[in-house]
Amino acid sequence: MLKLAPSILSADFSALAEDVKKIETGGADYIHVDVMDGHFVPNISFGAAVMKSLNGKTMLPYDVHLMIENPDQYIGDFVTQQTAFITVHQEACRHLHRTIQNIKGRDIGAGVSINPATPVEVLSCILGDVDMVLIMSVNPGFGGQKFIPGALDKVRQLAALRQERNLDFLIEIDGGVTLDNAKVVMEAGVDIAVAGSAVFGAPDVIERVKAFKRI
Ligand code: DX5
Ligand code: ZN
Repeated sequence: MLKLAPSILSADFSALAEDVKKIETGGADYIHVDVMDGHFVPNISFGAAVMKSLNGKTMLPYDVHLMIENPDQYIGDFVTQQTAFITVHQEACRHLHRTIQNIKGRDIGAGVSINPATPVEVLSCILGDVDMVLIMSVNPGFGGQKFIPGALDKVRQLAALRQERNLDFLIEIDGGVTLDNAKVVMEAGVDIAVAGSAVFGAPDVIERVKAFKRI
């Protein structure tokens, strides 16, 4: 079954705990936490304090997506009992292997993400070390953008590599996921789909999460 990680980037920041309760009631699997620094991506979102304000307000695990430069400096801030994954961008890491070990050394799942213009091949030497690969299906920085179809080829390529090399990392996709393309995404080999505007922009958020989970 496709797991769903709604992105709180599209939630109502003035009522974050209530919005998070809704996705939990609907059956979401993770809370996707989009951290943007205004350098790696042309937008600033929020930091660890906002994420931690949800500690104990929900049982859902955090799926942290760091769209920031120099992630090593901040990884420790996002380590909580509820943190399931911390994902960094390949494009932001000069020493990716070291950064991945930094995350794993804290008993947190380590993820690596690639932008639409970055080929899967750059991950070849790190695939055996990561718990998750996050394929960006939009250029990171904003919610509500259109899905870039080429991301599906990357998912298929990764799924094939995973099988070929007998690895067990999860495949996540992020950006422009809607009820209309969720099935194709799942069939391509995605384990976890991130959805922001398609969840929090819905008239009934709980119902929308349930609709995703029925796919
Ligand atoms: C993009 C973020 C995504 C984004 C998804 O930079 O990483 O997680 O919030 O939003 P939608 O689902 O609206 O494309
Ligand atoms: Zn994200």
